[in-house]
Amino acid sequence: MELCVALDLSSAKENLALAESLKGYSIWMKVGFRAYIRDGKPFIEALKAINPEFKIFLDLKLYDIPNTMADAAEEIAKLGVDMFNIHASAGAVAMKTVMDRLSSYEKRPLVLAVTALTSFNEANFQLIYEKTIDEKAEQFAKISYENGLDGVVCSTFESRAIKNATSEAFLTLCPGIRPFGEDAGDQQRVATLELAQKEGVDYPVIGRPIYKDENPQAKVEQILKVMYP
Ligand code: C5P
Repeated sequence: MELCVALDLSSAKENLALAESLKGYSIWMKVGFRAYIRDGKPFIEALKAINPEFKIFLDLKLYDIPNTMADAAEEIAKLGVDMFNIHASAGAVAMKTVMDRLSSYEKRPLVLAVTALTSFNEANFQLIYEKTIDEKAEQFAKISYENGLDGVVCSTFESRAIKNATSEAFLTLCPGIRPFGEDAGDQQRVATLELAQKEGVDYPVIGRPIYKDENPQAKVEQILKVMYP
């Protein structure tokens, strides 16, 4: 299990200060829409300058026609990030096209597919996908596995079933973690770190419980103690 910290603060300066305070830890940094749209490639470079060992997950959730997604995937690979994601609902052809295109890269980033966003509750999910979250997440995971992706983004509650349906080595990255019962915010399916561990989650993603804490470094320390007692 490896911790992934969401850098969702309102300026590059604040995100980099957070990264600076966490530079002593071997953790992942998640760069999402807000940070990447605003701060782009120089932000990735600035993170690497703080700690070249930081692993970077570019959370841009690609969703387009297969060729456009593969073009974008290639640009992402050139950025030198360690992981990125696409939407599983883009389909098998998009997945295969992306993976084929990345196959020529000696050190390609890990590719995950988003199954069901953790902000969905069952009723809202049904309206769009006409299936339960469990059913759809497992189906999306199987398609992702069959098309050579490395894992999926899901909630802790689907992690075990997804591994059973694919492989124990198929990665699960799970947002919606509230390590010590913090406020859920807009997340609907939140879990504690202990549950995430029990369900075999590979990457717990934690944003607000860390960056809204008055001492994010101490919070990370506390989290790592639970993860590696
Ligand atoms: O602040 P919080 O811990 O809820 O942050 C979760 C992070 O994970 C956010 O950056 C959010 O965009 C991201 N995310 C998510 N659900 C997904 C994929 C990504 O919450 N399915």
